[in-house]
Amino acid sequence: MALAAETKAIVGQYDYTDEDVNKGVKEFLRQMGEGLEKDGTSLSQIPTYVTAVPNGTEKGLYLAVDLGGTNFRVCSIQLNGDSTFHLTFSKVPIPKEMMVAKTSQELFAFLAKQIDVFLQTHHMADYDRHVRRRNTVSSPTGFKDEPVFRLGFTFSFPVKQVGINKGTLIRWTKGFDIPDAVGKDVCALLQVEIDKLHLPVKVAALVNDTVGTLMARSYTSPGKTGAVLGAIFGTGTNGAYLEKLANIKKPLEGEYDNSTGDMVINTEWGSFDNQLNVLPNTPWDIQVDKDSVNPGIQMFEKRVSGMFLGEIVRRTLLDMMGNEKMAFFKDENSSFNDWKSTTSIAEHSGIFKQWGLDSSIMSVAAADTTPELSTLRQELEGQLHVYSPSLEDAQAFKAVAGAVGRRAARLSAVAIGAIVLQTGQLSQAGDEPIDIGVDGSLVEHYPYFRDMIYEALRVIDGIGEEGAKRIRIGIAKDGSGVGAALIALVAAGMEKGQPVGEYVFPKPCLAKPPDRTNM
Ligand code: BGC
Repeated sequence: MALAAETKAIVGQYDYTDEDVNKGVKEFLRQMGEGLEKDGTSLSQIPTYVTAVPNGTEKGLYLAVDLGGTNFRVCSIQLNGDSTFHLTFSKVPIPKEMMVAKTSQELFAFLAKQIDVFLQTHHMADYDRHVRRRNTVSSPTGFKDEPVFRLGFTFSFPVKQVGINKGTLIRWTKGFDIPDAVGKDVCALLQVEIDKLHLPVKVAALVNDTVGTLMARSYTSPGKTGAVLGAIFGTGTNGAYLEKLANIKKPLEGEYDNSTGDMVINTEWGSFDNQLNVLPNTPWDIQVDKDSVNPGIQMFEKRVSGMFLGEIVRRTLLDMMGNEKMAFFKDENSSFNDWKSTTSIAEHSGIFKQWGLDSSIMSVAAADTTPELSTLRQELEGQLHVYSPSLEDAQAFKAVAGAVGRRAARLSAVAIGAIVLQTGQLSQAGDEPIDIGVDGSLVEHYPYFRDMIYEALRVIDGIGEEGAKRIRIGIAKDGSGVGAALIALVAAGMEKGQPVGEYVFPKPCLAKPPDRTNM
């Protein structure tokens, strides 16, 4: 069989049909309901105690830090009160050894150090002023606690939230594995390390990146109502949406304002269908899961997010290369090779190593529509050290990567579609858009990812062509930082009688989204 025909048979295993999409949506809705009833379910449906989305008029200067992807980001955000903001940030890659540090103290000390460096680089005046004042104030402890900055902590892992700045880690995801942090309050862990450095910072809010994205999208996107869903399609994947309080049947232990009748729920959809009732499961999905740090967990994420897609593709290619009968990345293919006479692969190629194929090459493959696939072939040489790949090799690579990417987009549509249906917004009259804020490398950089999501949304029963037209999926760039700032703002308002430092923190104006048609 020619390589193209053999590849087709492999690629067919990644098909995710319209019927599968609908089955997926039904099961997603069922698991959402289950998660609203009790704890310990596959879709965690975590109440966040955030009961409204912003309306764009919020103001103030806040700090935010973001842990949960490939980088650790520290930013300060000036909210201007007119749906705009000014953001200053620094980011450092999280060292691999930190992700599996022996103790959580090592990780949180590293984070506090980055905050220190950021303040000294970008907010030296505030920093100096604060230190001077601390030294001159007499109190029994030798200094007075006058936090200048309220900090929103975006911590993008499953956390059982018990208050606006309190929550215990349920489990690590995305390759992190520091067992002693599980069950601990991550805000307290960070505050302890911040205090050791005497930084003028109070951890005021604990935020999942999806909640931040939902907040940021509502702050920045004009419309009659706020966004209904914030979602991340990056290293990991997850979504947070606005649920009716009446639908949350499990006990809510923390304090919250029930005047809006809504609460933001962090679904933790990365763990949708861990039991594999409906998720597709190819031999390569099985391998990826088996060799991960958390087998059997985050099964949806392992089919959708950037961290895993490259690895699924790599495992598939490796099997194709090992198949004697398949002329893939092999000399036998040379007769078709229009570049040089032989194809070879360096021993140190990422193809042979776990996580060795970065998902970004899938974007290159999807974007290259030239007849000779020359960009992709150069990338195969440059990134994967496959020398002189033939056109047929590149076509096979593109087909496999495309199939894995397309399946991920259609699965993403399952989650988005189910949540749109759950909010009931489509059955409300009018043609007001149903707004969804998204962020993450996959949705930002993978070509046609959003188009493929829309294609699948159109076939969902209860959404259809007309419904899909009303769904507006827009990028909420830097969403998690801005969102964390917005929640820190709410937190500042909740701290009655406490000093809030140098800046004027306005009364929180998170409220039921007003009619903003004239804005
Ligand atoms: C985490 C979520 C997070 C998502 C996106 C997942 O692995 O469990 O909390 O929102 O990644 O960063």
